[in-house]
Amino acid sequence: MPMDTPIWNFVKAYAESGNIRAHMPGHKGRGFLGFEKYDITEIKGADALYEAGGIIEKSRLNAQSLFGSGRTDYSTEGSSQCIRAMVALACGLSRGRPLILAARKVHKAFVYACALMDADIEWLMPERETGSLCACPITPEGVAKRLDGLERKPCALYITAPDYLGGSPDIRGIARECHKRDVPLLVDNAHGAYLKFLSPSRHPLDLGADMCCDSAHKTLPVLTGGAYLHVSKDFLPRLNKEPRRVMAMFGSTSPSYLILSSLDLCNRYLTEGYPERLAEACRRVSVLRGGLREMGYSVPETDPLKLTVLDGVGGEVLAARLRQNNIEVEMADRWAVVMMFTPETGEEEMERIGEVFASFASTPLPEEKRNVLCPKVAMSPRQALMSPTKRVKADDSVGRVCADPSVSCPPAVPIVVSGEVITPEAVEMFKEYGIKEIETVDI
Ligand SMILES: Cc1ncc(COP(=O)(O)O)c(C=O)c1O
Repeated sequence: MPMDTPIWNFVKAYAESGNIRAHMPGHKGRGFLGFEKYDITEIKGADALYEAGGIIEKSRLNAQSLFGSGRTDYSTEGSSQCIRAMVALACGLSRGRPLILAARKVHKAFVYACALMDADIEWLMPERETGSLCACPITPEGVAKRLDGLERKPCALYITAPDYLGGSPDIRGIARECHKRDVPLLVDNAHGAYLKFLSPSRHPLDLGADMCCDSAHKTLPVLTGGAYLHVSKDFLPRLNKEPRRVMAMFGSTSPSYLILSSLDLCNRYLTEGYPERLAEACRRVSVLRGGLREMGYSVPETDPLKLTVLDGVGGEVLAARLRQNNIEVEMADRWAVVMMFTPETGEEEMERIGEVFASFASTPLPEEKRNVLCPKVAMSPRQALMSPTKRVKADDSVGRVCADPSVSCPPAVPIVVSGEVITPEAVEMFKEYGIKEIETVDI
């Protein structure tokens, strides 16, 4: 039996009903894009995302059963909304001022979340510097040592896995160390919704995470903004707030029914041969990965649907070469380009990418030794984000306190976090990422 799609069934029937729309939105079902008829609001029968008891609840339960979680909630505002909710839920468990231990190189949504909750952050720095803004190599042993060395017990450990480059630490081992010390593990799995459907699953919940967010829109065929907040079965009874109430604190009161319909239809998609199509897509990426390695490119092992290629000519040059051939990549940085594929990517498209790489000679990567940036904290992220600010040129920012995490998007991973003092090494990195001006605290 195919999985039912209660939200889409309702929206489609309403779109075809010919009803006079004496309600929001203002386009009245007619408009510029052609699909406005499916864009509805909370009319009778349409349920309401944060008080769901009808079609949205039924659809949400479908997603929950697919992911095997204790609780899965939909987000129409990306993992960014889920990260705020995860952090708020974890902070709610803290007695006293909340502290979160976080693996550095987080998405900036985490910094905003900590500022909103007025949580302190202790950083788990990368155990070796990779020179990339995105990679944060950490080990269970490193996590254990750091947890034992903290003066205050954190209300959570927060990690990003997979990261933008597709790297992932040993989540199972890290979860074990967290649980030995009764510290919940939160995972930013924005890039890994599909990991659930690999055989065996590599989804963080199945590796011991207590809560995680998945951007459905990044790796599944869901409209931009569609995401899930998952809570594990073991961890759910420990929460002292309902996840959806906390999601509501950070979301619009007008969630998009286009995105909800897309999430709803994705449930059915996932039950109709998706694991097989996914396995085939992973095989294709793996073939391309092998081919590029034979050509001399440096291609690390990553999560299976990502292809990260490093080369001595630099990521921007690789991206430009691909762009000239009508191929647009997800992200380019100093040495790497990152490409993301799904079963929707055609076999010929993958072959074309291989041909473009083959038409250029690979260049060896230079040897680079980098030190881990050691941030000096002048104030909390909240104080820094809420303070009056002054925009200064990157070169003039040394010694000033960073107000807004200064990042380019993608990858939206801060070089200096709000409240930290900007160093000359950080300015070097700003330049590498094309950041010319920085928002600094002006007090
Ligand atoms: C690692 C990571 N976490 C979180 C996010 C935020 O996700 P969303 O765009 O779904 O809000 C992103 C977005 O690029 C990301 O790369």
